[in-house]
Amino acid sequence: MRHRKVKNLEERIEAGRRFLVEDAKANRGKWRQLFGNDGRLYLELGCGKGKFITGRAMADPEANFVGIEGLDAVIVRGLEKAAENEIENVRYVMEYVKDIREFFEDGELDGIYLNFSDPWPKARHAKRRLTYGDTLLKYKQVLKEDGFIAFKTDNEGLFDFTMEEIERLGFEIKEMSRDLHSSDLAAKEFTTEYEEKFHGLGKNINYVLI
Ligand SMILES: C[S@@+](CC[C@H](N)C(=O)[O-])C[C@H]1O[C@@H](n2cnc3c(N)ncnc32)[C@H](O)[C@@H]1O
Repeated sequence: MRHRKVKNLEERIEAGRRFLVEDAKANRGKWRQLFGNDGRLYLELGCGKGKFITGRAMADPEANFVGIEGLDAVIVRGLEKAAENEIENVRYVMEYVKDIREFFEDGELDGIYLNFSDPWPKARHAKRRLTYGDTLLKYKQVLKEDGFIAFKTDNEGLFDFTMEEIERLGFEIKEMSRDLHSSDLAAKEFTTEYEEKFHGLGKNINYVLI
């Protein structure tokens, strides 16, 4: 989605353009070729301003990271971070994803991160939630056999819904916490913009790894 009100947006996007993948669907099945190696490949869906993926990518230079975000006014910060720090193992896609299988081939990904996904609280919008059961099944399809989905949220309603979907589908829960930052789990190491904000306000952060 275009937000032309943001100052100098086009110029800012231009400055980080080499980190932006324009025809992302054409890379289906070829993401490792784009990165030029056979390393692990991770996706963050709804990556916002890119704080999390930037931190993960800098800490794990052997792996490759794709951040997808529908809002140009937000993703531009990710592009800038990549350009400022010359983070070669990260690429961004500026699109709203409807079906992840259009972007990745079966078994192509090692892991998917869903961080503070939009809650869509109305029952009639349940299908739009990024952790809706059928959507989780699509993620599983593009993941390797031992690939993971990691989900964090401050939103209790969305977390309860997600846990119900996970149970209904019979996925194995590898890690789970209703208060991630009071736990010993490594998932608290790399934070997102929303996580910083809500944790800073004293809100518990929910986390599940399947
Ligand atoms: C609440 S924000 C969280 C941003 C970031 N992950 C964080 O934790 O700070 C959710 C973001 O996901 C993006 N988003 C939601 N659905 C999406 C989709 N289907 N495809 C791409 N981006 C999406 C929204 O535009 C928004 O920027």
